[in-house]
Amino acid sequence: MDKIIVEGGRPLTGEVNISGAKNAALPILVSSLLTDGLCTFSNVPNLKDIESIKLLLSHLGAKIETDGDVVKIDAGNIFNHEAPYDLVRKMRASILVLGPLVARLKKARVSLPGGCAIGARPINLHLKALACLGASIELKHGYVEAYAKQLKGAKIYLDIATVTGTENIMMAAVLAKGSTVIHNAAREPEIVALADVLNKMGADIRGAGTSEITIMGVSSLSPVSVSIIPDRIETGTFMVAAALTGGDVKISGCRPDHLEAVIHKLSLTGASIKIDGKNIRVKGKDNIASVDVKTLAYPGFPTDMQAQFMVLMSVARGLSLIFETVFENRFIHVGELKRMGADITIAGTAAMIKGVKMLSGAPVMASDLRASASLILAGLVAHGTTEINRVYHLDRGYESLEKKFARLGAAIKRI
Ligand code: EPZ
Repeated sequence: MDKIIVEGGRPLTGEVNISGAKNAALPILVSSLLTDGLCTFSNVPNLKDIESIKLLLSHLGAKIETDGDVVKIDAGNIFNHEAPYDLVRKMRASILVLGPLVARLKKARVSLPGGCAIGARPINLHLKALACLGASIELKHGYVEAYAKQLKGAKIYLDIATVTGTENIMMAAVLAKGSTVIHNAAREPEIVALADVLNKMGADIRGAGTSEITIMGVSSLSPVSVSIIPDRIETGTFMVAAALTGGDVKISGCRPDHLEAVIHKLSLTGASIKIDGKNIRVKGKDNIASVDVKTLAYPGFPTDMQAQFMVLMSVARGLSLIFETVFENRFIHVGELKRMGADITIAGTAAMIKGVKMLSGAPVMASDLRASASLILAGLVAHGTTEINRVYHLDRGYESLEKKFARLGAAIKRI
Protein backbone atom coordinates (compact mmCIF):
# COMPACT_ATOMS: atom_id res chain seq x y z
CA MET A 1 0.00 0.00 0.00
CA ASP A 2 1.23 3.49 -0.85
CA LYS A 3 2.42 5.86 1.85
CA ILE A 4 3.08 9.61 1.74
CA ILE A 5 6.11 11.02 3.54
CA VAL A 6 6.20 14.73 4.42
CA GLU A 7 9.04 16.81 5.91
CA GLY A 8 7.37 19.75 7.66
CA GLY A 9 8.36 23.40 7.99
CA ARG A 10 8.45 24.70 4.43
CA PRO A 11 6.16 27.62 3.41
CA LEU A 12 4.25 26.85 0.20
CA THR A 13 4.83 29.29 -2.65
CA GLY A 14 3.84 29.38 -6.31
CA GLU A 15 0.75 28.59 -8.35
CA VAL A 16 -1.58 25.57 -8.38
CA ASN A 17 -4.35 24.75 -10.87
CA ILE A 18 -7.60 23.27 -9.53
CA SER A 19 -9.02 20.05 -11.04
CA GLY A 20 -12.65 19.35 -11.91
CA ALA A 21 -15.01 18.80 -8.98
CA LYS A 22 -15.48 15.14 -7.96
CA ASN A 23 -18.93 15.81 -6.49
CA ALA A 24 -20.09 17.52 -9.69
CA ALA A 25 -18.52 14.99 -12.07
CA LEU A 26 -20.16 11.98 -10.38
CA PRO A 27 -23.84 13.01 -10.86
CA ILE A 28 -23.10 14.62 -14.23
CA LEU A 29 -21.47 11.46 -15.65
CA VAL A 30 -24.48 9.48 -14.34
CA SER A 31 -26.91 11.90 -16.05
CA SER A 32 -25.72 10.49 -19.42
CA LEU A 33 -27.97 7.47 -18.61
CA LEU A 34 -30.93 9.74 -19.38
CA THR A 35 -29.91 10.28 -23.03
CA ASP A 36 -29.66 7.91 -25.99
CA GLY A 37 -26.58 9.32 -27.70
CA LEU A 38 -22.96 10.34 -27.16
CA CYS A 39 -22.26 12.77 -24.29
CA THR A 40 -18.83 14.42 -23.95
CA PHE A 41 -17.61 15.58 -20.53
CA SER A 42 -14.37 17.59 -20.17
CA ASN A 43 -12.30 18.71 -17.15
CA VAL A 44 -13.19 15.38 -15.50
CA PRO A 45 -10.76 14.78 -12.59
CA ASN A 46 -8.61 11.63 -12.67
CA LEU A 47 -9.78 10.01 -9.40
CA LYS A 48 -10.54 6.53 -8.04
CA ASP A 49 -14.19 7.52 -7.54
CA ILE A 50 -14.47 8.54 -11.21
CA GLU A 51 -13.01 5.15 -12.23
CA SER A 52 -15.63 3.48 -10.01
CA ILE A 53 -18.58 5.33 -11.56
CA LYS A 54 -17.31 4.65 -15.11
CA LEU A 55 -17.04 0.93 -14.24
CA LEU A 56 -20.63 0.95 -12.99
CA LEU A 57 -21.96 2.83 -16.02
CA SER A 58 -20.26 0.39 -18.42
CA HIS A 59 -21.66 -2.49 -16.35
CA LEU A 60 -25.12 -1.02 -17.11
CA GLY A 61 -24.29 -1.12 -20.82
CA ALA A 62 -22.94 2.38 -21.51
CA LYS A 63 -20.00 2.69 -23.95
CA ILE A 64 -17.24 4.77 -22.39
CA GLU A 65 -14.07 6.30 -23.85
CA THR A 66 -11.56 8.31 -21.84
CA ASP A 67 -8.86 10.55 -23.26
CA GLY A 68 -7.09 12.57 -20.54
CA ASP A 69 -9.70 14.74 -18.82
CA VAL A 70 -12.32 14.06 -21.52
CA VAL A 71 -14.83 11.25 -20.93
CA LYS A 72 -17.26 10.23 -23.69
CA ILE A 73 -20.31 8.18 -22.69
CA ASP A 74 -22.90 6.65 -25.03
CA ALA A 75 -25.84 5.32 -23.02
CA GLY A 76 -27.95 4.66 -26.14
CA ASN A 77 -28.08 0.91 -25.52
CA ILE A 78 -28.04 0.49 -21.76
CA PHE A 79 -29.65 -2.88 -21.05
CA ASN A 80 -28.78 -3.74 -17.45
CA HIS A 81 -30.79 -2.20 -14.61
CA GLU A 82 -28.71 -3.74 -11.82
CA ALA A 83 -25.92 -2.04 -9.80
CA PRO A 84 -24.23 -4.91 -7.90
CA TYR A 85 -22.93 -4.86 -4.34
CA ASP A 86 -19.26 -5.28 -5.29
CA LEU A 87 -19.42 -2.08 -7.34
CA VAL A 88 -21.69 -0.02 -5.05
CA ARG A 89 -19.75 -0.85 -1.87
CA LYS A 90 -16.64 0.78 -3.41
CA MET A 91 -18.44 4.09 -3.66
CA ARG A 92 -21.74 5.10 -2.09
CA ALA A 93 -22.41 7.79 -4.71
CA SER A 94 -23.28 4.82 -6.98
CA ILE A 95 -26.78 5.23 -5.52
CA LEU A 96 -27.09 8.11 -8.01
CA VAL A 97 -27.94 5.61 -10.78
CA LEU A 98 -31.22 4.73 -9.05
CA GLY A 99 -33.27 7.71 -10.23
CA PRO A 100 -32.04 7.73 -13.85
CA LEU A 101 -32.49 3.95 -14.24
CA VAL A 102 -36.12 4.08 -13.07
CA ALA A 103 -36.71 7.07 -15.36
CA ARG A 104 -35.06 5.47 -18.40
CA LEU A 105 -35.57 1.68 -17.97
CA LYS A 106 -38.64 1.83 -15.67
CA LYS A 107 -36.81 -0.36 -13.14
CA ALA A 108 -33.64 -0.55 -11.08
CA ARG A 109 -32.00 -3.00 -8.67
CA VAL A 110 -29.28 -1.17 -6.76
CA SER A 111 -27.32 -2.52 -3.82
CA LEU A 112 -27.90 -0.55 -0.63
CA PRO A 113 -24.68 1.38 0.06
CA GLY A 114 -23.22 0.17 3.37
CA GLY A 115 -22.33 2.56 6.16
CA CYS A 116 -19.14 4.52 5.98
CA ALA A 117 -16.44 5.81 8.33
CA ILE A 118 -18.05 9.22 8.80
CA GLY A 119 -21.59 8.06 9.51
CA ALA A 120 -24.53 5.74 8.81
CA ARG A 121 -25.45 7.78 5.73
CA PRO A 122 -28.88 6.27 5.13
CA ILE A 123 -30.72 6.80 1.81
CA ASN A 124 -34.24 6.80 3.26
CA LEU A 125 -34.95 10.27 1.83
CA HIS A 126 -33.88 9.19 -1.68
CA LEU A 127 -36.34 6.24 -1.49
CA LYS A 128 -39.19 8.24 0.06
CA ALA A 129 -38.93 10.82 -2.73
CA LEU A 130 -38.81 8.19 -5.46
CA ALA A 131 -41.96 6.63 -3.99
CA CYS A 132 -43.60 10.08 -4.08
CA LEU A 133 -42.90 10.10 -7.82
CA GLY A 134 -44.87 6.84 -8.12
CA ALA A 135 -42.12 4.23 -8.00
CA SER A 136 -42.79 1.01 -6.08
CA ILE A 137 -39.80 0.41 -3.80
CA GLU A 138 -38.84 -2.87 -2.11
CA LEU A 139 -35.78 -3.66 -0.02
CA LYS A 140 -34.70 -7.27 -0.58
CA HIS A 141 -31.45 -9.07 0.25
CA GLY A 142 -29.52 -5.82 0.66
CA TYR A 143 -30.82 -4.37 -2.59
CA VAL A 144 -33.30 -1.61 -3.46
CA GLU A 145 -35.73 -2.84 -6.13
CA ALA A 146 -37.59 0.06 -7.72
CA TYR A 147 -40.18 -0.09 -10.49
CA ALA A 148 -42.37 2.52 -12.21
CA LYS A 149 -44.30 2.17 -15.46
CA GLN A 150 -44.36 5.97 -15.65
CA LEU A 151 -43.07 8.35 -12.98
CA LYS A 152 -45.45 11.20 -12.16
CA GLY A 153 -44.47 14.68 -10.96
CA ALA A 154 -45.13 15.36 -7.25
CA LYS A 155 -44.50 17.83 -4.42
CA ILE A 156 -41.58 16.47 -2.41
CA TYR A 157 -40.44 17.74 1.00
CA LEU A 158 -36.95 16.68 2.12
CA ASP A 159 -36.52 16.41 5.91
CA ILE A 160 -32.78 17.02 5.32
CA ALA A 161 -31.37 18.95 2.36
CA THR A 162 -29.54 15.86 1.09
CA VAL A 163 -27.09 16.55 -1.75
CA THR A 164 -27.17 13.23 -3.63
CA GLY A 165 -30.82 12.84 -2.62
CA THR A 166 -31.67 16.10 -4.44
CA GLU A 167 -29.59 14.94 -7.43
CA ASN A 168 -31.30 11.53 -7.56
CA ILE A 169 -34.76 13.13 -7.49
CA MET A 170 -33.87 15.69 -10.16
CA MET A 171 -32.65 12.94 -12.48
CA ALA A 172 -35.82 10.90 -11.92
CA ALA A 173 -38.23 13.84 -12.25
CA VAL A 174 -36.86 15.20 -15.55
CA LEU A 175 -38.62 12.36 -17.46
CA ALA A 176 -41.68 12.13 -15.19
CA LYS A 177 -45.16 13.17 -16.37
CA GLY A 178 -46.04 16.63 -15.04
CA SER A 179 -44.21 18.92 -12.66
CA THR A 180 -42.21 18.15 -9.51
CA VAL A 181 -41.37 20.62 -6.76
CA ILE A 182 -38.58 19.75 -4.32
CA HIS A 183 -38.88 21.65 -1.03
CA ASN A 184 -35.81 21.97 1.20
CA ALA A 185 -33.60 20.96 -1.74
CA ALA A 186 -29.81 21.04 -1.32
CA ARG A 187 -28.28 24.28 -2.63
CA GLU A 188 -24.69 23.15 -3.32
CA PRO A 189 -22.95 24.43 -6.51
CA GLU A 190 -22.83 20.80 -7.67
CA ILE A 191 -26.66 20.79 -7.73
CA VAL A 192 -26.63 23.90 -9.94
CA ALA A 193 -23.99 22.31 -12.20
CA LEU A 194 -26.13 19.17 -12.63
CA ALA A 195 -29.28 21.23 -13.33
CA ASP A 196 -27.36 23.24 -15.96
CA VAL A 197 -26.33 20.01 -17.70
CA LEU A 198 -29.86 18.54 -17.56
CA ASN A 199 -31.34 21.80 -18.94
CA LYS A 200 -28.76 21.70 -21.73
CA MET A 201 -30.03 18.15 -22.46
CA GLY A 202 -33.54 19.61 -22.86
CA ALA A 203 -34.89 19.40 -19.32
CA ASP A 204 -36.89 22.23 -17.73
CA ILE A 205 -35.48 22.79 -14.22
CA ARG A 206 -35.85 26.07 -12.33
CA GLY A 207 -34.62 27.20 -8.94
CA ALA A 208 -31.47 25.05 -8.68
CA GLY A 209 -29.26 26.67 -6.03
CA THR A 210 -32.30 27.65 -3.96
CA SER A 211 -34.15 25.39 -1.53
CA GLU A 212 -37.13 25.09 -3.91
CA ILE A 213 -36.51 23.41 -7.27
CA THR A 214 -39.25 23.00 -9.90
CA ILE A 215 -38.89 20.36 -12.62
CA MET A 216 -41.30 20.15 -15.56
CA GLY A 217 -41.12 16.59 -16.96
CA VAL A 218 -40.20 16.22 -20.66
CA SER A 219 -40.46 13.17 -22.92
CA SER A 220 -36.77 12.74 -23.73
CA LEU A 221 -33.32 14.31 -23.32
CA SER A 222 -30.55 14.74 -25.90
CA PRO A 223 -26.81 14.18 -25.46
CA VAL A 224 -24.55 17.16 -24.64
CA SER A 225 -20.93 18.27 -24.48
CA VAL A 226 -20.09 20.02 -21.18
CA SER A 227 -17.17 20.89 -18.90
CA ILE A 228 -17.06 20.08 -15.16
CA ILE A 229 -16.84 22.99 -12.66
CA PRO A 230 -13.66 23.32 -10.53
CA ASP A 231 -13.50 21.55 -7.16
CA ARG A 232 -14.33 23.95 -4.33
CA ILE A 233 -13.06 21.55 -1.65
CA GLU A 234 -9.70 21.09 -3.36
CA THR A 235 -9.54 24.91 -3.63
CA GLY A 236 -10.30 25.27 0.10
CA THR A 237 -7.69 22.64 0.94
CA PHE A 238 -4.95 24.63 -0.83
CA MET A 239 -6.15 27.88 0.74
CA VAL A 240 -5.78 26.38 4.21
CA ALA A 241 -2.38 24.90 3.26
CA ALA A 242 -1.08 28.35 2.24
CA ALA A 243 -2.33 29.96 5.47
CA LEU A 244 -1.04 27.08 7.58
CA THR A 245 2.54 27.15 6.22
CA GLY A 246 2.84 30.96 6.15
CA GLY A 247 3.15 30.68 2.40
CA ASP A 248 2.04 32.68 -0.63
CA VAL A 249 0.01 30.63 -3.11
CA LYS A 250 -1.96 31.57 -6.20
CA ILE A 251 -4.85 29.13 -6.73
CA SER A 252 -5.95 29.35 -10.35
CA GLY A 253 -8.95 28.06 -12.33
CA CYS A 254 -11.25 28.06 -9.30
CA ARG A 255 -14.68 29.50 -8.41
CA PRO A 256 -14.29 31.95 -5.49
CA ASP A 257 -18.08 32.44 -5.51
CA HIS A 258 -18.44 28.79 -4.36
CA LEU A 259 -16.30 29.42 -1.27
CA GLU A 260 -17.82 32.44 0.51
CA ALA A 261 -17.98 30.75 3.94
CA VAL A 262 -14.42 29.36 3.70
CA ILE A 263 -13.02 32.71 2.49
CA HIS A 264 -14.81 34.51 5.32
CA LYS A 265 -13.56 32.17 8.04
CA LEU A 266 -10.03 32.01 6.66
CA SER A 267 -9.72 35.79 6.51
CA LEU A 268 -10.80 35.96 10.19
CA THR A 269 -7.74 33.82 11.04
CA GLY A 270 -5.56 36.64 9.66
CA ALA A 271 -4.61 35.14 6.29
CA SER A 272 -4.61 37.69 3.47
CA ILE A 273 -6.92 36.62 0.62
CA LYS A 274 -6.99 38.38 -2.75
CA ILE A 275 -9.69 37.40 -5.25
CA ASP A 276 -9.18 38.07 -8.95
CA GLY A 277 -11.74 36.44 -11.28
CA LYS A 278 -11.05 32.70 -11.29
CA ASN A 279 -7.96 33.03 -9.08
CA ILE A 280 -7.49 33.32 -5.33
CA ARG A 281 -4.16 34.36 -3.81
CA VAL A 282 -3.61 33.39 -0.17
CA LYS A 283 -0.75 34.67 2.01
CA GLY A 284 -0.25 33.18 5.47
CA LYS A 285 0.75 35.21 8.53
CA ASP A 286 3.08 33.96 11.26
CA ASN A 287 0.44 34.07 13.97
CA ILE A 288 -2.96 32.53 13.21
CA ALA A 289 -6.05 33.76 15.08
CA SER A 290 -8.48 31.18 16.54
CA VAL A 291 -11.89 31.14 14.86
CA ASP A 292 -15.02 29.10 15.69
CA VAL A 293 -16.73 27.14 12.90
CA LYS A 294 -19.99 25.26 12.53
CA THR A 295 -20.40 22.98 9.51
CA LEU A 296 -23.70 23.40 7.68
CA ALA A 297 -25.32 22.60 4.34
CA TYR A 298 -24.37 25.04 1.58
CA PRO A 299 -23.97 28.02 1.70
CA GLY A 300 -22.72 27.35 5.25
CA PHE A 301 -19.18 26.20 6.05
CA PRO A 302 -18.75 22.85 4.24
CA THR A 303 -18.34 19.68 6.31
CA ASP A 304 -15.78 18.55 3.69
CA MET A 305 -13.51 21.40 4.89
CA GLN A 306 -13.89 20.69 8.62
CA ALA A 307 -10.85 18.43 9.07
CA GLN A 308 -8.60 20.78 7.06
CA PHE A 309 -9.68 23.83 9.08
CA MET A 310 -9.14 21.94 12.32
CA VAL A 311 -5.45 21.50 11.45
CA LEU A 312 -5.13 25.27 11.04
CA MET A 313 -6.83 25.83 14.42
CA SER A 314 -4.53 23.28 16.07
CA VAL A 315 -1.60 25.72 15.59
CA ALA A 316 -3.60 28.96 16.02
CA ARG A 317 -3.32 31.30 19.01
CA GLY A 318 -5.94 30.48 21.68
CA LEU A 319 -9.07 28.36 21.84
CA SER A 320 -11.49 27.53 18.99
CA LEU A 321 -14.66 25.45 18.74
CA ILE A 322 -15.64 23.37 15.72
CA PHE A 323 -19.19 21.97 15.54
CA GLU A 324 -19.80 19.15 13.03
CA THR A 325 -23.56 19.22 12.38
CA VAL A 326 -23.79 17.26 9.09
CA PHE A 327 -22.27 13.83 9.85
CA GLU A 328 -22.38 12.04 13.20
CA ASN A 329 -18.84 10.67 13.16
CA ARG A 330 -16.56 13.06 11.34
CA PHE A 331 -13.89 13.60 13.98
CA ILE A 332 -11.87 10.46 13.17
CA HIS A 333 -8.87 12.60 12.22
CA VAL A 334 -8.73 14.05 15.79
CA GLY A 335 -7.03 10.97 17.25
CA GLU A 336 -4.27 11.12 14.67
CA LEU A 337 -3.79 14.89 15.06
CA LYS A 338 -3.45 14.41 18.83
CA ARG A 339 -0.67 11.90 18.20
CA MET A 340 1.08 14.77 16.38
CA GLY A 341 0.76 16.97 19.46
CA ALA A 342 -2.54 18.74 18.80
CA ASP A 343 -4.56 19.66 21.91
CA ILE A 344 -8.18 18.77 21.00
CA THR A 345 -11.08 17.75 23.22
CA ILE A 346 -14.26 16.28 21.76
CA ALA A 347 -17.65 16.71 23.43
CA GLY A 348 -20.38 15.16 21.24
CA THR A 349 -20.56 17.04 17.95
CA ALA A 350 -18.21 19.77 19.20
CA ALA A 351 -14.42 19.77 19.22
CA MET A 352 -12.49 22.27 21.35
CA ILE A 353 -9.05 23.06 19.94
CA LYS A 354 -6.34 24.71 22.03
CA GLY A 355 -3.67 26.03 19.68
CA VAL A 356 -0.16 24.65 20.29
CA LYS A 357 3.19 26.12 19.22
CA MET A 358 4.17 23.25 17.01
CA LEU A 359 2.94 19.85 15.83
CA SER A 360 5.45 17.03 15.64
CA GLY A 361 5.72 14.60 12.74
CA ALA A 362 4.56 11.01 13.35
CA PRO A 363 3.36 7.90 11.48
CA VAL A 364 -0.44 8.35 11.07
CA MET A 365 -3.36 6.52 9.46
CA ALA A 366 -5.87 8.03 7.03
CA SER A 367 -9.50 7.05 7.62
CA ASP A 368 -11.63 8.91 5.09
CA LEU A 369 -11.03 11.17 2.14
CA ARG A 370 -10.92 14.56 3.83
CA ALA A 371 -9.27 13.27 7.00
CA SER A 372 -6.34 12.02 4.86
CA ALA A 373 -5.97 15.49 3.34
CA SER A 374 -5.90 17.00 6.84
CA LEU A 375 -3.10 14.65 7.88
CA ILE A 376 -1.01 15.83 4.94
CA LEU A 377 -1.68 19.44 5.95
CA ALA A 378 -0.55 18.62 9.49
CA GLY A 379 2.61 17.02 8.08
CA LEU A 380 3.38 20.15 6.03
CA VAL A 381 3.59 22.26 9.18
CA ALA A 382 4.80 19.68 11.76
CA HIS A 383 8.38 19.55 12.98
CA GLY A 384 10.06 16.47 11.49
CA THR A 385 8.75 13.65 9.33
CA THR A 386 5.13 12.51 8.99
CA GLU A 387 4.23 9.22 7.30
CA ILE A 388 0.61 8.93 6.15
CA ASN A 389 -0.61 5.35 5.60
CA ARG A 390 -3.67 4.13 3.65
CA VAL A 391 -3.46 6.96 1.11
CA TYR A 392 -5.93 5.14 -1.15
CA HIS A 393 -8.53 7.21 0.73
CA LEU A 394 -6.79 10.30 -0.66
CA ASP A 395 -6.76 9.05 -4.25
CA ARG A 396 -10.56 8.77 -4.20
CA GLY A 397 -10.98 12.54 -4.13
CA TYR A 398 -7.72 14.37 -4.88
CA GLU A 399 -5.86 14.24 -8.19
CA SER A 400 -2.10 13.67 -7.44
CA LEU A 401 -2.26 15.91 -4.36
CA GLU A 402 1.32 15.20 -3.28
CA LYS A 403 2.64 16.25 -6.72
CA LYS A 404 0.71 19.52 -6.51
CA PHE A 405 2.12 20.21 -3.04
CA ALA A 406 5.67 19.30 -4.21
CA ARG A 407 5.33 21.84 -7.05
CA LEU A 408 4.55 24.43 -4.36
CA GLY A 409 7.84 23.63 -2.58
CA ALA A 410 6.70 21.01 -0.05
CA ALA A 411 9.11 18.20 0.84
CA ILE A 412 6.62 15.45 0.11
CA LYS A 413 6.79 12.12 -1.73
CA ARG A 414 4.75 8.98 -2.25
CA ILE A 415 6.41 5.59 -1.73
C1 EPZ B 1 -22.54 14.59 -0.42
O1 EPZ B 1 -22.77 13.38 0.26
C2 EPZ B 1 -21.07 14.60 -0.79
N1 EPZ B 1 -20.81 13.47 -1.69
C3 EPZ B 1 -20.23 14.50 0.49
O2 EPZ B 1 -18.86 14.56 0.10
C4 EPZ B 1 -20.57 15.69 1.38
O3 EPZ B 1 -19.83 15.60 2.58
C5 EPZ B 1 -22.07 15.69 1.68
O4 EPZ B 1 -22.81 15.72 0.43
C6 EPZ B 1 -22.50 16.88 2.51
O5 EPZ B 1 -22.15 18.07 1.85
C7 EPZ B 1 -21.15 13.57 -3.00
O6 EPZ B 1 -21.68 14.57 -3.45
C8 EPZ B 1 -20.81 12.39 -3.86
P1 EPZ B 1 -26.09 14.17 2.27
P2 EPZ B 1 -24.28 12.89 0.55
O7 EPZ B 1 -27.08 13.21 1.69
O8 EPZ B 1 -25.18 13.34 -0.54
C9 EPZ B 1 -28.28 12.47 6.08
C10 EPZ B 1 -16.63 13.90 0.06
O9 EPZ B 1 -15.75 13.89 0.91
N2 EPZ B 1 -29.17 11.75 5.13
O10 EPZ B 1 -26.22 15.62 1.93
O11 EPZ B 1 -24.23 11.44 0.88
C11 EPZ B 1 -26.85 11.95 6.05
O12 EPZ B 1 -26.71 10.84 6.89
C12 EPZ B 1 -18.03 13.44 0.41
O13 EPZ B 1 -16.50 14.29 -1.13
C13 EPZ B 1 -30.24 11.00 5.63
O14 EPZ B 1 -30.45 10.93 6.84
O15 EPZ B 1 -24.63 13.71 1.86
C14 EPZ B 1 -26.06 13.14 6.52
O16 EPZ B 1 -26.06 13.17 7.93
C15 EPZ B 1 -18.10 12.97 1.84
N3 EPZ B 1 -31.05 10.34 4.76
C16 EPZ B 1 -26.86 14.34 5.99
O17 EPZ B 1 -28.15 13.84 5.66
C17 EPZ B 1 -30.85 10.40 3.39
O18 EPZ B 1 -31.64 9.79 2.64
C18 EPZ B 1 -26.28 14.99 4.75
O19 EPZ B 1 -26.05 13.94 3.83
C19 EPZ B 1 -29.76 11.16 2.91
C20 EPZ B 1 -28.94 11.83 3.78
